[in-house]
Amino acid sequence: MPTMKDVIYVLDFGSQYSHLITKRIREAGVFTELVSPDFPISELAKSKGIILSGGPQNLSEKSALRVDKKVFGLGIPILGICYGMQLTAFMLGGRVKAGRTSEYGSTGIIVKKISKVLGNLSKNQKVWMSHGDQVTKLPKGFVANASSKNCPIAGMENTKKKIYCLQFHPEVKHTVNGKTIIENFLKICKIKKTWSMRNFISSSIKDIQKQIGNDRAVCALSGGVDSAIAATIVYKAIGKNLTCIYVDTGLMRKGETEQLKKIFKNHLKMNLRIVYAEKEFLKKLKGITDPEKKRKVIGELFIRIFEKEAKKLSRTKWLVQGTLYTDRVSSGFSIGGKHTAVIKSHHNVGGLPEKFGFKLIEPLRDLYKYEVRKVGDKLGLPKRITYRMPFPGPGLAVRIIGEVTKEKLEILRLADKIVTEEMDKTDFVKDPQFFYFVALPDIRSVGLQGDARTYGHPIILRAVETAEFLTANWVQLPYPLLEKISTRITNEVKGINRVVYDITSKPPGTVEWE
Ligand code: XMP
Repeated sequence: MPTMKDVIYVLDFGSQYSHLITKRIREAGVFTELVSPDFPISELAKSKGIILSGGPQNLSEKSALRVDKKVFGLGIPILGICYGMQLTAFMLGGRVKAGRTSEYGSTGIIVKKISKVLGNLSKNQKVWMSHGDQVTKLPKGFVANASSKNCPIAGMENTKKKIYCLQFHPEVKHTVNGKTIIENFLKICKIKKTWSMRNFISSSIKDIQKQIGNDRAVCALSGGVDSAIAATIVYKAIGKNLTCIYVDTGLMRKGETEQLKKIFKNHLKMNLRIVYAEKEFLKKLKGITDPEKKRKVIGELFIRIFEKEAKKLSRTKWLVQGTLYTDRVSSGFSIGGKHTAVIKSHHNVGGLPEKFGFKLIEPLRDLYKYEVRKVGDKLGLPKRITYRMPFPGPGLAVRIIGEVTKEKLEILRLADKIVTEEMDKTDFVKDPQFFYFVALPDIRSVGLQGDARTYGHPIILRAVETAEFLTANWVQLPYPLLEKISTRITNEVKGINRVVYDITSKPPGTVEWE
């Protein structure tokens, strides 16, 4: 892992683009973390650069998030973006006011040559704006570095204090030279570019070996990408001292268990124990329709089965989990996610370590999903594991809206297989931000199939484009593809007489229906 000196902290004021900032910086080869605005000054002081993100606040309101003024005196380069710029101006004696006209979307700016953070760009630039307020008076020691038609101070900087501010968003793709601007800031920070998945793997393996020593570890494989890759890294570190337990809940996709067995047991030669428990899960889920109750029942039974298996393993002190960076943020664990509400209880194995006295090892805790996939590639895992659509822990149970039954599971598995076959023929699946699935709601409608009246269920098709699942946009799939999927599902899946397409983004929806 990088030392603290190699980090850039992004103070998160709640912008929808905050994760994009960290993503862009990591793509540039630098480690960065999203932290809360009240992150300790003593920690910030150890970093190479600080970014103040945008945010939805209005500085005239008392509740608007602020930052400790000491941050501006650390002598560490600072980049203020949008609200981050307004806050900097406000706290250093400038003035911020509501602009006469708000600016949203692609906007032209004029860059001043004297700028250090923009100076190597040509005079006219297209940038992405999203603001109502603007800086109307510069703080002492600052000069304007850019202007737009409706915003005379579209950026400002104080090179002596190494503080650089932009009213627009360099992290958004629509800022044509955003990448160059971020690179300029990284150069100002004089930070080494050591963040790569190759370095991550080698340092993780060393760290894990040091941490676990000759002890044994256990990992609950779920069939998903994250636990598979977490297990593989730990396996590379400690070999046969890792045992993986896979519980086939009966809520998996078609062929999932066989595939896992082939790859991890037969090919990678890992210690893998498979527990077939479909009957037990279906029995416990009988009559349950509430999504959170389903999650709870599945989580509890999973723990019980896992406990029984784990008891058979002696000297096991460590539990491997595939927690990702965004899991920590969206569950409110991380400093950055302090202001985030928990919408769904995603962590259905969260109770395990306390219960058994296991120590927790989370090799992927600093990674975004797209980084995890790169790790999977570098570890040589097959693409069908690494690029498989993410799958929720409670599996198909949260894609069956209403009571879960064996019959409904079979229907959904078949529909899922058909959609996967059709999607695999398209370029959509090559886009790492593309995600799709099918769900089966507890609704019946009248249909006409083979000259006869039917009273069947619909299948819901959902396809979104999402950066890390925090927000998502529904995808405009081509009509011929929708037609093919609809025809195949209604012809090949007994009991289904309709296919509907979900055209809701997140927000206001969530990605999964339950
Ligand atoms: P939502 O529906 O919250 O989904 O927008 C975001 C991502 O989380 C996955 N998801 C879950 N993962 N246990 C999990 O491990 C769960 O209970 C759960 N619910 C949703 C979902 O598939 C998507 O990738």
